[in-house]
This record gives sequence, structure tokens and C-alpha cells, in this order.
Amino acid sequence: MIVAVYAVKGGAGRTTIAVNLAAAVGRKHRGECVLVDLSLPYNHAALVANLAPSSCMALCDRADQGQFEQALLDALLHHPTGMALLPSALRVEQSELITPQLVQRTLDVLDDAFNYLVVDLGVAMSEVTLGVLERADRILLMVTPELPTLKDTADLLRIFEDMLEIPPGRVSLVLNHSRPQTMVTRADAERVVRRKMDMEIAYEGARFDRAAVTGEILVASEPSSAAAKSVMRLASMITDEHKARSSRRA
Ligand SMILES: Nc1ncnc2c1ncn2[C@@H]1O[C@H](COP(=O)(O)OP(=O)(O)OP(=O)(O)O)[C@@H](O)[C@H]1O
Ligand SMILES: [Mg+2]
Repeated sequence: MIVAVYAVKGGAGRTTIAVNLAAAVGRKHRGECVLVDLSLPYNHAALVANLAPSSCMALCDRADQGQFEQALLDALLHHPTGMALLPSALRVEQSELITPQLVQRTLDVLDDAFNYLVVDLGVAMSEVTLGVLERADRILLMVTPELPTLKDTADLLRIFEDMLEIPPGRVSLVLNHSRPQTMVTRADAERVVRRKMDMEIAYEGARFDRAAVTGEILVASEPSSAAAKSVMRLASMITDEHKARSSRRA
């Protein structure tokens, strides 16, 4: 099952939520979840998770088809929480090597090896991003409570439906209070976007940042914090959906 984490604006909390979500799923289902860092051109997920990559998706493209799968699996980093992580580029200039075709081949391999793929996406509506959004079984659309972001999110939902044929039911809206004291309430946000928020993540002060700096992941280091509990609810939503899909297929 592919879960894409996207937002119309930078700094909305995509990486934070993608890392914590993958860790939350990994804690429950060890070895079944991989976080694919496609936040281009800057990859931060490994840094946030305190992992030091030595290979990445961009470098695997050199391998021929037979070796490609092994090269990708060798590039995976394994986090103590139980999740794996695949960086797309080690250096900014390598991000140019990430083509839509390479991403689709990568997702094919990882989809066979893992039950859960969480993809952290960049803001740009590139071919890479579109390819992942179209293929995703679930899109977590991060929304921050600011009017321009809400208006752009409403536009994006329209584009999903009218141009990309992504049904509204495949998209979950996650209202993330990434900053303190915003004037826009959940009700305001729902009015502007014309849809209910599926999940709300409270402002957690410096907790997420502190966890990143100390090399921890909040869902593992402070599982009783409000934000960690919200992310764990998101994780349960994803694993329940996966279970329902599997039993429908069986
Ligand atoms: N609910 C929250 N409470 C407190 N801080 C938060 C929350 N969500 C995110 N943050 C903080 O907001 C900042 C931006 O988050 P993050 O880097 O995850 O966003 P992003 O969408 O991945 O941004 P980028 O565009 O740089 O990829 C980080 O410092 C993170 O710790
Ligand atoms: Mg990010």
C-alpha cells in the first residue's frame, strides 16, 4: 500500500509526519514499512531519523535490471523503530537523476518487498510527484491553518478530481498546527476547503524539533504526547485500510 504525504506549501510538516508515521507503522509491523524520501531537491528524512545513508535511489539507476532490485534493497537504511528508509539523493545535484521512470521502477520493487510505502514528497508538481500521487492508494494532504494554503489546497482538490482522476475518497486531509497561535480554526479551514478534516495535529512546541536534534523520533521517544498520539491514529487508519484491502483481495 502506497501512502503519499503531500502539501501545497513548504514547511507544512510533511517530513515530520512522514517520518513519524513510518516509524509508528514500523513499530507495530517491524520490517513491513519503508519511508521513501522523494522530497526533492533536498532530502531530510535520513537526517531527521538520525540515519547516515551511503547509497540512494539515484545511484541504483546505474545497475542493470537484474542488479537494480538488489542495489535498491542494499541502499535501504534500517531504523531501530522497525521502519526502513530509502533516500532518493545523497547530494542535491543527484536529484536531477531522479526520473519519473526510476521512481516507478523503485516503487514496483518496494511494493513487492514491503506492505507499506510512505512517500515524503516535495512541493513542486513535477512529473515525479504526479506519478506518485496518481499511483498512491492514500494521499495524506497536509494542511496548515493559513488562508493562502487553504485556498491552494481547495484548488488542488479540484485538480485531483477534474484533471488527475483522483477520487476525493482517496485523499485524507490532515490539519497540522505547525506554528503556535494561528487565527484560523478547524471550522474556518473546513469552510475554505469545503471538506471535513480527517485528522488534526496539535502544535507540539519544540517537541518535534528537539526529537530530531537528539536523533529520536517522537512516536518512539514520547509516545504519550498529543502529536504522537495523532500520528499513531493516522498509522492505525493506514494499517486498517491495508487490512481491509487485503481481505477484499483474498
Ligand atoms: N504539529 C507540529 N508542532 C510543532 N512543530 C511542528 C509541527 N509540525 C511540524 N512542525 C515543525 O515545523 C517545521 C517544518 O516541518 P517539516 O520539515 O516536517 O515540513 P515539510 O513540509 O517537510 O517542509 P519542507 O518544505 O522543508 O520539506 C519543523 O521544524 C517541524 O519540527
Ligand atoms: Mg520536508
